[in-house]
Amino acid sequence: MTAIRGYVAPTSDRSAVGVHSLDHFTLAVPNLKPAQKFYGDFGLDVRDEGGSLGLKTYGHDHRWGTVVEGSRKRLHHLSFACFPDDLTRLKAQAEANGVVLVDPPPGFESNGFWIRDPAGVLIEVKVAPKSSPDRKLSGPWSSSPEGIPGAPVRSKAPVIRPRRLSHVLVFTTDIGIALEFYARNLGLRMSDRTDKVAFMHGIHGSDHHILAFAQSDAPGLHHCSWDMASVDEIGIGAAHMADKGYTRGWGLGRHVLGSNYFHYVQDPWGSFAEYSADIDYVAKQQDWPGAYHRDEDSLSLWGPEPPDYFIVNHEAGTRA
Ligand SMILES: [Fe+2]
Repeated sequence: MTAIRGYVAPTSDRSAVGVHSLDHFTLAVPNLKPAQKFYGDFGLDVRDEGGSLGLKTYGHDHRWGTVVEGSRKRLHHLSFACFPDDLTRLKAQAEANGVVLVDPPPGFESNGFWIRDPAGVLIEVKVAPKSSPDRKLSGPWSSSPEGIPGAPVRSKAPVIRPRRLSHVLVFTTDIGIALEFYARNLGLRMSDRTDKVAFMHGIHGSDHHILAFAQSDAPGLHHCSWDMASVDEIGIGAAHMADKGYTRGWGLGRHVLGSNYFHYVQDPWGSFAEYSADIDYVAKQQDWPGAYHRDEDSLSLWGPEPPDYFIVNHEAGTRA
């Protein structure tokens, strides 16, 4: 394994403190209407909350994302959740590390505290129930029993619905610094990385990554990723989105780092929403055998080459 700059080594230290979930992301866009249509078509339960949109999944109470109005598309903030006993320790840990606490944005006051990561991304840490799963959630891999056709005619394709938010991938200005910041302050641990991307999981049991980074010259949201029950659901979702006019994206393929099957759909602002299935799971207190991989050996196990518009930070050069 190659030594990793800026990386705090994983440990099974049971006294370690860390967040347990990526609670939600908040995105600002100039106009809520395209967001309401896009995420609704994507399969989410989009709630009009009077001046903002709540992104939920059907059958689940949790709000995984919020879309607010802003002068341009930008990642507004990320919210991480911890257990009640850990909030004071996390806050003290951040302050001991010299991280400056900042005021919450107007209208976003909570029981937690707010900081900025080294790239400038606004971060909330608050007490909330664990929304990341406690174990790997499987799905059906055989769509029908013997004697029953598994695929309906296309016009009868079922409506697919994501089960939950899995992760977000954000642009950052220095991946090594970002890894160290989130390890030291939120207790996240690196799962795997390459020169261009890196992945972090929580210490209380989470997907292979709840937060991931791509190198850029500015912060920004690259994609939000939503857990599906099967590869078939990924395909049905991608076809449904293409029928709705969202034809640009990347997939179907299987990632190496995280092992998830994927199809990315480009959103109205040039970033992406990912249908994902069967992502690796890092159990509580597990030392994940992470490593530094070559980009060309780890982007995908199979699938098409990504389009040239896949890694573009549309928030670069536009921030206040
Ligand atoms: Fe992803």
